[in-house]
Amino acid sequence: MCGIVAYIGKKEAYPILIKGLKRLEYRGYDSAGVALLNKGELKIFKKKGKVADLETATANQDVSGSLGMGHTRWATHGEPNDRNSHPHLSQSGEIAIIHNGIIENYATLKEELINRGHEFKSDTDSEVLVHLIEEIKEQEKCNLGEAVRLALGQVIGAYAIVVISRNDPAKLIGARKGSPLVVGIGEEGEYFMASDATPIIEYTRKVLYLEDGEIAYILDGELDVRTIADQAVSPFIHQLEMNLEAIEKGGYPHFMLKEIHEQPRSIYDSIRGRFDAHSGTFAMRSLKEYEQKIKGLKRIIIVGCGTSWHAGLVGEYLFENLARIPVEVEYASEFRYRNPIINEDDLVIAISQSGETADTLEAMRVAKEHGATVFGLCNVVGSSIPRLSNAGAYTHAGPEIGVASTKAFTAQVSILTLWALAFGEMQGKLSKNDLRTAMAELETIPEKVSNILKYEPQIVEIAERFCNAQNFLFLGRGYGFPVALEGALKLKEISYIHAEGYPAAEMKHGPIALVDEKMPVVVIATQTANYDKVVSNIQEVKARKGVVIAIVTKGDTKVPAMADYLMEIPEVSDFLEPLLTTIPLQLLSYHIAVMRGCNVDQPRNLAKSVTVE
Ligand code: G6P
Repeated sequence: MCGIVAYIGKKEAYPILIKGLKRLEYRGYDSAGVALLNKGELKIFKKKGKVADLETATANQDVSGSLGMGHTRWATHGEPNDRNSHPHLSQSGEIAIIHNGIIENYATLKEELINRGHEFKSDTDSEVLVHLIEEIKEQEKCNLGEAVRLALGQVIGAYAIVVISRNDPAKLIGARKGSPLVVGIGEEGEYFMASDATPIIEYTRKVLYLEDGEIAYILDGELDVRTIADQAVSPFIHQLEMNLEAIEKGGYPHFMLKEIHEQPRSIYDSIRGRFDAHSGTFAMRSLKEYEQKIKGLKRIIIVGCGTSWHAGLVGEYLFENLARIPVEVEYASEFRYRNPIINEDDLVIAISQSGETADTLEAMRVAKEHGATVFGLCNVVGSSIPRLSNAGAYTHAGPEIGVASTKAFTAQVSILTLWALAFGEMQGKLSKNDLRTAMAELETIPEKVSNILKYEPQIVEIAERFCNAQNFLFLGRGYGFPVALEGALKLKEISYIHAEGYPAAEMKHGPIALVDEKMPVVVIATQTANYDKVVSNIQEVKARKGVVIAIVTKGDTKVPAMADYLMEIPEVSDFLEPLLTTIPLQLLSYHIAVMRGCNVDQPRNLAKSVTVE
């Protein structure tokens, strides 16, 4: 949430900042701003709206300078407007700050500062920090770095910040606690700072991820990392492996469509090398290191938010069916605050695309405090969740830029499938033969996904028919239920059509009251264990004149005879069904949203990485 990018070096900062902000726009996009230092002058340009609006606003301005920082905002405190956009200036205008996170004690600090004569120009929590830094600098007669450090000592909450000063043209200071900050190390004393590595990879592959409570001071081309208690840190320099194409649209009109189409590859990459279908064996570190624990496992708790929580629900069905281990799936935000019962022998699996979701991170901390083992299932390499986990796995889906999650979901489900199969064997519930058969079928999934994607033109026709609907209902049973929830979420988040996902039978206890001839009802009606039951639910919808769009197994004749519109998937075993049934629903949402003129990659009010609770 909120994107940060900063540069110090010999190049012009502005183009690097603007390009970086565009790459970070998925994090928040209600306003954007830059600060540039040139010949002793600190200039701020900021604008409500997208980064493109900021560019228009600066079109005829002098934006030169080789030290600068930029910010793209997702509003928490103070409505999105020019005034509340970052950067914010100190009382004298000497120091500028950009901030991602929430300063929880800002109201108290602000009141004290106002009493001491400070005047605030915005409604943000962030502005408080820059006033505080300046006041400390003056009172303590210390340098900028020390003032930042002392000010952070007074702050409660989460932050990634970057600070520059008119009087310190060779200084760039960044700090993190709870919100991510990556430092890129370029050539000849050139440095970058950013919320993630995407604005940096074009210039350097050498990065370090600041840990919570660390401050990076760049002074005269030298980097010094210290803790907030002023202890020197020897940072670990990572070599980035990401390539540039992965974060560009590659000819697609939107990242979301590109990412939907990447799924044959991203599923393949996520499972590749992690099992051998001939021998029925696994090659996953998490399984090796925690073999004894998994063998005796009595309960799994899965935590996550949004689409990752839906993947967790699929996980519940997988672990319970394949490994017969009881599973609880929790919204991370509920879990962390409801005093949950956690035992030392529990395994908690935290699922997150970004690896930075504040609630999921905190849920992990709660689990660890109670002595549970925590596995992280994450997409972004080096992010906070994998670093906090005891073990886990990366989904090798590649960067996901579209705010609505697609390929990350199927990658998460792929890994959960592998873990469920492995746990099933370790618990004596699956034989080697069962494993070999399941693994061989899992290997066919990428190709099956490719085949489903070929039906896109038919899905476009369905989208044309329903793009003006006001409500949608999504129904499924068993493995189809979490997919129905995910289908409804996808549609509402990008097209703003009200949509609800429901267990198909539960429909009778409420949503059926909404069904009439105007209500499109998407039913996951594939030929799996619950097929006949779902058929009855379709009849119940039809009896109330509802319009049925059914996802069916190729070759089925019964449901096609009843449904109004069809989306086909190839035949597949129940436990692999979510990897296929999700695909047509993603395409349906995407095309409906495009037809409604919505910004599918950056839907209103949402952000991809939710680093505030
Ligand atoms: C936001 C995103 C969703 C995502 C959720 C959880 O709401 O818009 O797409 O599912 O956060 O994010 P995570 O990175 O933890 O999977």
